[in-house]
Amino acid sequence: MTIYPDDYGGNFRWQSTNDIADGEKLHRSWAFDMQPGDGLLFHTDHVPGSELNRTDQTRFAISFRVSVERPVFPNLHFHPYIHAGWHDSGLLRPIAQLPAMAQPSYVRSFAARLRNKAFPAMTPAEPGARLPEAIGHPVGAAEGMIEVPLAEVPVGTVRGVTPALCVARLSETEAVALTRRCPHAGGDLANGWVMEGTVVCPWHNLPFDAETGRSACTSLPALRRVACEIREGRILIDPAVVLNRPEREPGVEAAE
Ligand code: FES
Repeated sequence: MTIYPDDYGGNFRWQSTNDIADGEKLHRSWAFDMQPGDGLLFHTDHVPGSELNRTDQTRFAISFRVSVERPVFPNLHFHPYIHAGWHDSGLLRPIAQLPAMAQPSYVRSFAARLRNKAFPAMTPAEPGARLPEAIGHPVGAAEGMIEVPLAEVPVGTVRGVTPALCVARLSETEAVALTRRCPHAGGDLANGWVMEGTVVCPWHNLPFDAETGRSACTSLPALRRVACEIREGRILIDPAVVLNRPEREPGVEAAE
């Protein structure tokens, strides 16, 4: 389970795919394990997202929302609720949703959601779309090397080098350059962070080993890791030199 406490009430731009737009930076999340049989209660103001894929086996999550009193609907929170008492009555059943829906906060959040659907933020692939942050500069066009000022990547952070590459600063003396797009659903790893030798994707909190580029999801390919070194206040990256095997290991079956 992943929770983004510092993003409560955040108003993000979205892509037409319903994914958060590039450049919209989530704050660092809290993540913890849940076991079969565990339950988690949210205040109705809190919107739990449901997509998470960090196991190597299929699992099912069944969730429903119960509100002790009439729910309130903060930003983009407009899940339909049914008045349990009215729902049990044959007479009031057809309008059992009204007590929750007929309130200004529901109408406002529903309108905002419609607006986002009608005018989604553009993805970088679309013409005219804003490119995500990229702080790398070519060094010597012939060699195809890229450099990034070391000061731009504090320890523990990840930054976008090019639209395809990001760099993660593991320690004072170590940095790694990896594929920027998460192979799970395309999250921008440049918005992620470093945690105990891994680079964590901000969308579903999946950690990728910084050395191998692999995650716990055997159904996902590893991130490509390319040559990268810290030298004289700069991070030098050679995208042509791949240091790991980004493909799946032969014989490892994708989880269904
Ligand atoms: S973990 Fe889902 S997009 Fe990265």
